[in-house]
Amino acid sequence: MESCRLRPMRLRSDCLVIGSGIAGLSFALERADSGTVTVVTKKATAESATNYAQGGIAAVMAPEDSFEAHVADTLRAGAGLCDPAVVRFVVERGPPAIERLIELGVRFDRHETCATDYDLGREGGHTQRRVLHAADFTGQEIERVLVERCEAHPNIRILANHMAVDLVTSRKLGVDGPLRMAGAYVLDEARGEVGVVEAPVALLAAGGCGKVYLYTSNPDIASGDGIAMAYRAGATIENMEFIQFHPTCLYHPEARSFLISEALRGEGATLRTAAGEAFMARHDPRGDLAPRDVVARSIDHELKRSGDDCVFLDCTHLDPAFLRRRFPNIHERCLGLGIDLTKQPIPVVPAAHYCCGGVATNLDGETDVANLFAAGEVACTGLHGANRLASNSLLEGVVFAQAAARCVRERTDLPDLPAIPDWDSGDASDPSEAILVNANWGEIRQLMWNYVGIVRSDKRLARAARRIQLLQDEIRQYYWDFRLTPDLVELRNLATVADLIITAASRRRESRGLHQNLDHPETDAEARPTRLRALS
Ligand code: SIN
Repeated sequence: MESCRLRPMRLRSDCLVIGSGIAGLSFALERADSGTVTVVTKKATAESATNYAQGGIAAVMAPEDSFEAHVADTLRAGAGLCDPAVVRFVVERGPPAIERLIELGVRFDRHETCATDYDLGREGGHTQRRVLHAADFTGQEIERVLVERCEAHPNIRILANHMAVDLVTSRKLGVDGPLRMAGAYVLDEARGEVGVVEAPVALLAAGGCGKVYLYTSNPDIASGDGIAMAYRAGATIENMEFIQFHPTCLYHPEARSFLISEALRGEGATLRTAAGEAFMARHDPRGDLAPRDVVARSIDHELKRSGDDCVFLDCTHLDPAFLRRRFPNIHERCLGLGIDLTKQPIPVVPAAHYCCGGVATNLDGETDVANLFAAGEVACTGLHGANRLASNSLLEGVVFAQAAARCVRERTDLPDLPAIPDWDSGDASDPSEAILVNANWGEIRQLMWNYVGIVRSDKRLARAARRIQLLQDEIRQYYWDFRLTPDLVELRNLATVADLIITAASRRRESRGLHQNLDHPETDAEARPTRLRALS
């Protein structure tokens, strides 16, 4: 009988976008007016870290604020490792980027008494109120508008439930000379087939890698796919040791990964021990509004000292009507778990939240693979340095998406490359041992939490490095023996990213920002980035 199997997908597009958060969709919209764009995204289109962002997007909007102040706050949080030119570039493009989002249809909350002004929130490390928000659903509001706009655009094709497996460069096609972008292999999650998208330009906007840790505020999709693919393709990966732990994730057995926004502390909420002591003033003069690295480490210290499972965020002294109106999402979610935040403190713990490192880019968002761009959490632009300032990430995503789109529009000299060959699955069989994949996944997340967490040491890092090498050997074996599944692709990426974090952390022989090593507590006079590149 003749087989009725369909041929795997083969598409050609002027531009390929991998990921559908604020960076990917902003770029797609800016680019699509003069070319075709294919957006490849895992799961549903709106399932991105952007969608879960509560706090908001920082920009200089108030008359009493200034670019100088936003730049200074960003540099201070970044502990000497930010690129000052990049910080200024992003901060100065903040207000027009916000205007563009508003023009597209994003509705930020306005001040109650003065309808022409936006209601600006405050978060740790900011000396001014400058966080635009839509209650505590800011990311969801931005994502809603961008998805609607992209879905309606005739030049944008969105492939939801598709996962990029690997980038394809000129080297893979046997073309000598500098590495250039050619496209990607893409797994159709439902059919289990790997197809090809050919594109002379690609933007990686695949988000971060919080799932590499046992406890994280990130959605399940955050498995570091973009960073791992860029590394395999030959791009430089920078500063992976700087993983930001958000101080306040809900501590409850039935609520995985639920963030309690820093904006609550911005409005006056106080961290307390289980015994009721407000402890932050003992750790930092900025108290509850110290930058995240300081607050997360202080909580870690208090928990280790007391042996308690969590600390508490107390908002009971704030106006209940204000709390319900300003934080409807957090209020509802806590209430559903039996915690009325207007009457009782919320149990919280730190959890992995944001990767400050990533694929190294220039001011156009371009990586060192020609015509491969990166924006959003996947990228390391130089904005965050050793610790990201709260609510700077959505801003960075949209500013660099616009910069990359501008650069791509002007690029008319895109060379032709040979066709990408079909994916060859060789003798791979269907995976029969899903338990192995699950067990490896769990081992990686546990070892990263235990040995490469908020506080590190040489011994812990050496142990993590040995364990990850063994796991990578096993994963490499399944990868070639079995037909690809989304779980297997994610596991391989997660292991690569874990290895990059461990390697970068082991190379940094000092403590700075988010990277604190008990064996090297001092900070070097000169701040240097950690750059990693795959051996070709
Ligand atoms: C939060 O709302 O606390 C998170 C905001 C951010 O990560 O910038």
